[in-house]
Amino acid sequence: MKKWTTSKLRKCKGVDKIAAITAYDAAFANLFSGTGIKMILVGDSVGNNALGFDSTLPVTMDMMVHHTAAVSRGAGDVHVVADMPFLSYQIDDNEAIRNAGRLIQEGGADSVKLEGGSERAALVRRMVDNGIPVCAHIGLTPQSVLAFGGYGMHGKDAAEAERLVASAKALSEAGAFAIVLECVPDALAARITAEIPIPTIGIGAGPHCDGQILVMHDLLGINPPDRAPKFAKRYAEIGDAVRKAVSEYVAEVGSAVFPKERK
Ligand code: KIV
Repeated sequence: MKKWTTSKLRKCKGVDKIAAITAYDAAFANLFSGTGIKMILVGDSVGNNALGFDSTLPVTMDMMVHHTAAVSRGAGDVHVVADMPFLSYQIDDNEAIRNAGRLIQEGGADSVKLEGGSERAALVRRMVDNGIPVCAHIGLTPQSVLAFGGYGMHGKDAAEAERLVASAKALSEAGAFAIVLECVPDALAARITAEIPIPTIGIGAGPHCDGQILVMHDLLGINPPDRAPKFAKRYAEIGDAVRKAVSEYVAEVGSAVFPKERK
């Protein structure tokens, strides 16, 4: 099967739902390829899921390039979108394009994702004009957690809902190929999905989006239940399986059952 390009992903709108997942290394990217997953996000959530930080804010460009390159090596035909980390695109448009270029040239990403609404439309237009495919991200944008004061829902009041609809339209008109809607009410996600021509990818945004994305550590049960968001579904309990396997190994080493004597 050929690579899931942005144009193939755009054609899924209204026809075929897009299931996406995060990954941060080649081993898991390789496990996900061939499952029907169309898009892997190398999220800056690598910070709080794999690197031991308590938010995405400490994640740097060098970290994103390193993890993106690993995922790209394992992803096969799955589309790899790489997150632009905090302050890699907010300060200066030229620097933003250079940083997006690093994710593509050094990281092997197929596209980049950045957070923000209408205020990012001009930057998205410049990136797209320079050959960089962009996935937008509105609603709860975790890089603004300090400004928001937490990870709650967005777009619950009418004025903010209208702002999010206007942002989605501006980003789509600027050339974004898809847009992540994070933690917005189901009805608002349904409205945005109906009103823009590009796929919406929901996370905590209900069932009406064109696709869904989950953080792999939530989906696979690697994060403890009290750390996973309520909307996430745990399809496995890998954390329990790992603990059980490693405890068994420790016990077998302790009792000299492993390794067996070689003849
Ligand atoms: O970094 C990430 O994992 C994300 C998803 C929550 C969409 O941006």
